[in-house]
Amino acid sequence: MQRIFSGIQPTGVPHLGNYLGAVRNWVALQADHECLYCVVDLHAITADHDPKTLAGQTRDLAAALIACGIDPQKHVLFHQSAVHAHVRLGWIFTCVARMGWLNRMTQFKDKAGKDRENVSTGLFTYPNLMAADILAYHATRVPVGDDQKQHLELANDIAQKFNHDFEADFFPNIEPLILGPAARVMSLRDGAKKMSKSDTSDQSRINLTDDAETIANKIKRAKTDPEPLPSEMEGLEGRPEARNLVGIYAALTDTTHADVLAQFGGMGFGAFKPALAELLVEKLSLIAAETRRLLADPGYVDGVLRDGARRAAAIADPIVDEAERLVGFLKV
Ligand code: TYM
Repeated sequence: MQRIFSGIQPTGVPHLGNYLGAVRNWVALQADHECLYCVVDLHAITADHDPKTLAGQTRDLAAALIACGIDPQKHVLFHQSAVHAHVRLGWIFTCVARMGWLNRMTQFKDKAGKDRENVSTGLFTYPNLMAADILAYHATRVPVGDDQKQHLELANDIAQKFNHDFEADFFPNIEPLILGPAARVMSLRDGAKKMSKSDTSDQSRINLTDDAETIANKIKRAKTDPEPLPSEMEGLEGRPEARNLVGIYAALTDTTHADVLAQFGGMGFGAFKPALAELLVEKLSLIAAETRRLLADPGYVDGVLRDGARRAAAIADPIVDEAERLVGFLKV
């Protein structure tokens, strides 16, 4: 059975992009894979964060993942800082990766913007830690949204260079799983930008905790064009906002863009938006209610994470011990 690894940052409430691009697929993959899902709090401190809220956000996100359908009994759910193997292998990979490789990372360029000299060095070396997250478990399949593709290509470059430098066929090749019609959910205000936690406008995203009224309002106000929906896929070309809303509908109903157009083609947004809002409310209200129920007992969620960290470490520690031996560290 192939081993799956994926992660999500506890930097605020998860949004519809996280859910449709990643977490929903994580849930489905549990049926026929051994899965490890990680709340990546080490990654969360690469940008400014509030030390008073990080622990709570880590717990809240773990609860939301369970509410979405992650099964912490059959699979492993844990937070990154509790398993030291990530940092140990992350450092080795920081010494394997080349400056030129990291300089090409578009997400760093986007996040650092004009402030390159002032961002943390952790933001720059972030993809090395991400490679370590996956490879510390010898995981081979990584379900992510489209925005993480370049980081996974880099992880494969790092693994290959490690194997070459230390003359061992040790780290496997990683296969990105970028699945479904909503692998890149766009902002509701601008079809050229991806939906993101860091967007200053809350109107740009649907948060998994939004109530029914908020969801309905955000969809009502979502940017669209005046044309009705087309009946064929080609008609979505050059209409990123329409394409985005159709993709969201398709993902939520387990269908495709083409299926949604077959149903709604010829109708205006006046008809489509209320149908989409109703669907979102139906799906997300269950998740929000279950998250609240779980968080009423924070001790339960903490217990899940503690147990997850123990099981994760049992897999990763021997692999990272062996990586350290290959690098040549004295083992006494
Ligand atoms: P993060 O926390 O930004 O996002 C978590 C997951 O959500 C996906 N995602 C989206 N998918 C579709 N549309 C969007 N608008 C959208 N926004 C986010 C992301 O692609 C991701 O799958 N570096 C990662 C976390 C990470 C990781 C890992 C992932 C750390 N180590 C190892 C996989 C394997 C990140 O910042 O994701």
